[in-house]
Amino acid sequence: MVLTNINFITFIGCLVLTITAFPSNKKKLNWQGSDVLNEVPLIDGHNDLPYNLYNIENNMLNNFELDSDLKSNPKWNVSSSFTDLPRLRQGKLGGQFWVAYVSCNRNYKDAVERTIEQIDVIKRLIDKYPKDLMYVTEADQIMEAHRQGKIASMIEIEGGHSLDSRLSSLRIFYELGVRCMTITHNCNIPWADNNQVDNNVSTPKRNLTEWGKNVILEMNRLGMIADISHVSEGVMVDVLATSKAPVIFSHSSVYNIKPHSRNVKDHVLQKLKQNNGVIMINFYSAYIANDTATIYDVINHINYVKNFIGVDYVGIGSDYDGVTRMPIGLEDVSKYPKIFDLLAEEGHDWEPWTEEELKKLAGLNLIRVFKQVEAIRDSLIDEEIIDQPIPYEDVFTANPNVTQCWTDLDKYKPVVNRFIEEFLPAEIA
Ligand SMILES: *[C@@H]1O[C@H](CO)[C@@H](O)[C@H](O)[C@H]1NC(C)=O
Ligand SMILES: *[C@@H]1O[C@H](CO)[C@@H](O)[C@H](O)[C@H]1NC(C)=O
Ligand SMILES: *[C@@H]1O[C@H](CO)[C@@H](O)[C@H](O)[C@H]1NC(C)=O
Ligand SMILES: *[C@@H]1O[C@H](CO)[C@@H](O)[C@H](O)[C@H]1NC(C)=O
Ligand SMILES: *[C@@H]1O[C@H](CO)[C@@H](O)[C@H](O)[C@H]1NC(C)=O
Ligand SMILES: [Zn+2]
Repeated sequence: MVLTNINFITFIGCLVLTITAFPSNKKKLNWQGSDVLNEVPLIDGHNDLPYNLYNIENNMLNNFELDSDLKSNPKWNVSSSFTDLPRLRQGKLGGQFWVAYVSCNRNYKDAVERTIEQIDVIKRLIDKYPKDLMYVTEADQIMEAHRQGKIASMIEIEGGHSLDSRLSSLRIFYELGVRCMTITHNCNIPWADNNQVDNNVSTPKRNLTEWGKNVILEMNRLGMIADISHVSEGVMVDVLATSKAPVIFSHSSVYNIKPHSRNVKDHVLQKLKQNNGVIMINFYSAYIANDTATIYDVINHINYVKNFIGVDYVGIGSDYDGVTRMPIGLEDVSKYPKIFDLLAEEGHDWEPWTEEELKKLAGLNLIRVFKQVEAIRDSLIDEEIIDQPIPYEDVFTANPNVTQCWTDLDKYKPVVNRFIEEFLPAEIA
């Protein structure tokens, strides 16, 4: 027995020796992970360059050169600028959701008008660089743009405040080319809570309201991708339960690694898998780790999703130009390829990714979701348009000031009561 034990211990010792005999040698492969970006487009779920165009250029593009080194332009030498065409080319970007974001302080004011201005500036930017950017409104056009060596350019609006609680706005934004909408930004709207309500257990939660469900169903009918970054946990759960189509997190990371209300908890990740959606990992240092976060911390979030729910549900949603602090190694949009090179390398504390896996992370997962959203749209061709206005109470409760900015408020009040009061004898009413 004793001998056997000693033999066993010697055996274990040899095993350990064998393993440590190959220290973290980064074995050179005959290919680099980023080579996959030649074959499939790298699609980023979230870039706020258009908001910088508003803040820095007042949306005037005639004297603005995206095809230049913006770092050397004093106006653009700001902590929220990470993007220009030379660096996008280095970064091998193949597709981008450009964000038509307007601030939450436009909520109940001129959000719809301001959103139109941001959609317009994105379209003018795409038109200005026809050799580099291609306007895209259908999933199939993303591969076509890639074949032509251009960045597929999709439009996303960030926050339901951009609708001013009107389904007409949603439908017209779809006609203007918008293919994705984040349900909220960092403010509550009359039909959905934002993530910050989760920072205080005592804050009353409304989640997604009954009328809010109509917005999701109407997005399904139109073929617009629902994005549940920025919403509260309750809204994440409600949208996942309501949507007939896969949804995305366009720019969120993993709560279990970095507990932050902008990040996604494990039980929600499991529901996202059932929904066949995708979480596109946000690079922002504060959502990844802290101010000294590195590219390895971002890789940690990516690997977490792969190991927990599978490689089919993870993508890239950098948030470049929307934040001021990016991890060491991901200083700007030229750095994406390093993520793919590192993931493919041997000798790290993760299983090296295969080419097929890297392609899914790069863009195939997002393209799958986009195509499914289109397929659901096509299957709903006979569905009726949802035409109920938001209930007056929902808007009034969220913001009593609505009486100052909305007209014809009676039209939002319940029709049944008006009918009863006006047309039925008092004793019946
Ligand atoms: C950009 O601004 C920083 C200070 O914020 C300064 O140190 C740097 O020299 C500037 N770069 C250029 C190219 O102007
Ligand atoms: C949490 O919310 C409750 C109810 O709205 C409020 O009374 C309280 O001040 C909040 N606490 C903090 C720390 O914000
Ligand atoms: C909101 O969502 C949370 C989490 O899913 C749930 O526990 C709560 O009951 C919901 N509240 C309402 C009013 O639906
Ligand atoms: C920042 O995050 C990294 C990675 O999680 C951690 O190792 C480091 O201790 C953190 N630094 C600080 C100052 O909290
Ligand atoms: C309503 O308007 C008042 C006065 O302009 C302002 O102080 C208050 O913050 C507004 N309330 C909301 C919910 O916007
Ligand atoms: Zn955002």
